[in-house]
Amino acid sequence: MKRIAIFASGTGTNAANIIRYFDDNHDISVKAVLSNNPTAGVLNVAKEAGVDSLVFTREEFYETDKVIRYLLDNQIDLVVLAGFLWLVPELFIQSFPKKIINIHPALLPAFGGKGMYGARVHQAVKAANKQETGITIHYVNPHYDEGDIIFQTSCSLSDDDTPDTIAAKVHKLEYEFYPKVIGQLLN
Ligand code: GAR
Repeated sequence: MKRIAIFASGTGTNAANIIRYFDDNHDISVKAVLSNNPTAGVLNVAKEAGVDSLVFTREEFYETDKVIRYLLDNQIDLVVLAGFLWLVPELFIQSFPKKIINIHPALLPAFGGKGMYGARVHQAVKAANKQETGITIHYVNPHYDEGDIIFQTSCSLSDDDTPDTIAAKVHKLEYEFYPKVIGQLLN
């Protein structure tokens, strides 16, 4: 059995979608949801799905090995970031080489970097009058949104699109492709 840990800071609709996708899979399961945010919606998602969760502080994440140890103790094979907003520290990355992936709601390297997350990304895409946007799934390195790209796909935009409709189009791509790519990486 391959085991996934999902890291999220917010609502967790991607986390919910990934948990659902692997629910009846005999080879892959979501073992845990981890969050830096004690009030994150994703913790309710985990609770309702019967998935273990762990909340950690900034100090625990950056200055101790508590989170690394938790993942090792739970024999996690893949760390999946889904709307997780903190930079992943170097020691953490070294502990799980090529085993940490992230999804970004745009076509990197455009519209990435520090401060570019969630609605801000879609507002920037709109402001730049882009005719297309998309998603990028990539390995995580010590810099925001700069790790090797695993998968990208795009959708077209029209002048009528708003940041909200762009977000909806991007979420649709995320829900369709993130679980599939995770499955491929673990097979
Ligand atoms: C997702 O769109 C994800 O791509 C984005 O946060 C959203 C989380 O939504 N991640 C980033 O912007 C990372 N830079 P969710 O909580 O509903 O899954």
